[in-house]
Amino acid sequence: MIDRFLADEWKIIEEGFQPETNRFSESIFTLGNEHMGLRGFFEEHYSGDSLPGIYTAGIYYPDKTKVGWWKIGYPEFFAKIINSPNWLGIDVEINGIRLDLAKERFRAFRRELDLKNAKLTRTFIWMGADGQEIAFSFSRFLSMAQKNLACISLRINPVNFRGTVTLLPYLNGDVRNEDANFNEKFWTEVNQKINEDAACLTMATKKTNFLVTTAMSTKILTAKNSIKSTIVAKPEFVGYRFDLSVQPGQEIELQKYVAVCTSRDFSQAVLEETALAKLNSALAKGYERLYAEHRREMERKWSDCDVEIRGDLRAQQGIRYCIFQLLQTYTGADARLNIGPKGFSGEKYGGVVYWDTEAFCFPFYLYTNAETARNLLFYRYRHLEKAKENAAKLGLKGALYPMVTIDGQECHNEWEITFEEIHRNAAIAYAIYNYTKYTGNPGYLHKYGIEVLVEISRFWADRVTYNPRKDRYMILGVTGPNEYENNVNNNWYTNTMAAWTLEYTLETLAEIKEQQGKEYRNLLARHQLTVEELKKWREIMEKMYYPYVEELGIFEQNDLYMDKEQVLVRDLSPAELPLNKHWSWDRILRSCFIKQADVIQGLYFFPERYDPETIRKNFDFYEPRTVHESSLSPAIHSIVASRIGYKEKAYELYLRTARLDLDNYNDDTDEGIHLTSMAGSWAAIVEGFAGLLIKNA
Ligand code: BGC
Repeated sequence: MIDRFLADEWKIIEEGFQPETNRFSESIFTLGNEHMGLRGFFEEHYSGDSLPGIYTAGIYYPDKTKVGWWKIGYPEFFAKIINSPNWLGIDVEINGIRLDLAKERFRAFRRELDLKNAKLTRTFIWMGADGQEIAFSFSRFLSMAQKNLACISLRINPVNFRGTVTLLPYLNGDVRNEDANFNEKFWTEVNQKINEDAACLTMATKKTNFLVTTAMSTKILTAKNSIKSTIVAKPEFVGYRFDLSVQPGQEIELQKYVAVCTSRDFSQAVLEETALAKLNSALAKGYERLYAEHRREMERKWSDCDVEIRGDLRAQQGIRYCIFQLLQTYTGADARLNIGPKGFSGEKYGGVVYWDTEAFCFPFYLYTNAETARNLLFYRYRHLEKAKENAAKLGLKGALYPMVTIDGQECHNEWEITFEEIHRNAAIAYAIYNYTKYTGNPGYLHKYGIEVLVEISRFWADRVTYNPRKDRYMILGVTGPNEYENNVNNNWYTNTMAAWTLEYTLETLAEIKEQQGKEYRNLLARHQLTVEELKKWREIMEKMYYPYVEELGIFEQNDLYMDKEQVLVRDLSPAELPLNKHWSWDRILRSCFIKQADVIQGLYFFPERYDPETIRKNFDFYEPRTVHESSLSPAIHSIVASRIGYKEKAYELYLRTARLDLDNYNDDTDEGIHLTSMAGSWAAIVEGFAGLLIKNA
């Protein structure tokens, strides 16, 4: 755990620079505006440890799969939202020496993230050899009002310094991903243009051929200094060099305006002119007006979803930070986008889409702005054909939505997840149900949702195995949400969700039949659904097998779970935790320890289907065996604990989520923030402590 930031209602403040945990701070100071985002790395050159990362939503590269032993059905590639051309950079030289905080002396280092206004400021005072000092203040924001725009301001106060300060704002297309599977460079240069007024760099991704045009202009605000400016242009790089002779006390400000446009939004023919036009209108408006419109947009967003906590400043800061990152990552303005589990804060998980969206993030967007949530549903609706292809690749009927995707194709390549974590399909059906229940409007369900439900149901019907000895349908060879067990049979959660999907689909079909007979007949024809097939679905639903532990009155997580040695997390030595860093994988798989909510995930989804006593018994049994080594786990447990009246437990688990990243609870925030867990923290308050429950009318 790290206790780094000053407690504040609306700000994340770091005082002093700690180079050994710089990546952690960079993750925390991530900014985004749905269209693009960046880690909190420095504008100027820094030779110490850092993960520079600028990401443009939807711009990905299919990185060829790297596995030890190929298995039929593996995806060819892992799609990743790649590190984009660097538009943040402003190099600084002081009397010809490049400023590099890894090498220079400085004091009063401070970073401040203003959550209300989505702005990051960094200040420090450079200390020269002879007592001379220069105060630096960098600020940046990514416009929430005009998503192609970003603005950076650098103010320099040469306190008692006289000499030359050189500023070099630039665009650099020579960027790489640390996690490239084959150390490839993902970009090639298409074009660059620079004149005294503006610079423009167009880069293309290899294979996917997305074009990203970044345009930049600068303004230097200073009354008295003499300025010499030169254009710097080399392959994949354009910039300006300003040599400023400065006097003590004479403040200088450099404003850098950036517009980023991609071929996702504009045709190649107009890409540069569009980026330049946006840049010019930004320049005409100026930094202050752009900031004002950005602030207004943030204010509007906050008014939909703020959570106020009185009497506990750290808790207040924690939840606001979570909401802030959720708002920075996804606003639903572009329905082709979705939510990466780490937002824009790093390379891990590639910025692509997991079941996290529907199972954990969805309630936040649904309850704060149902339109946004509807776009998340459309995202999967559009990927239905690809989901059918995914199922077909595994030799199955219907639709299997991917565990990880950017364009609808599966790109996760660990067999136990790709082939076995099929429960993800049900989360997509559940989100449709949740949306319909909350809005009370079956419009989406009847027109679009049903298309998805039918194909998911068809998948389940093909994936089950009939066991004549028990006269029950079983689902064999799966991995449940608990990834600390693989290839298990009859994971209670998966079986429950599969049967529920069949039930919900049949109910919905019946509704459509009753209300819109013609549409119903078209639907059957479109999907070649026969009465026999529907009968079969009902039979599977009615005869689904659910493992149960009679003597304890609990659901068994999966077959044979109770045959494992039963020990509790509290019996482990703290030195063994987290297990995934101390135990062999084989030992983890054989143990009874649970990574994240599994049976409890099902009870969370359906509080009305199970009586409180059943929920309590299952919670009492499973939670003490759960190591919560997925950041998705504590929030779900906290909500269920609240529902059964375990207030202290709910609070204890909540505390593990709300400040998970700020306090680096899992010691891995250097790789990026845990956005899914942030959505869970919000839900722990709203669905847990406040008890919001949407019941069927
Ligand atoms: C969890 C998965 C989750 C993934 C991305 C894993 O650690 O076990 O359920 O989808 O992280 O957040």
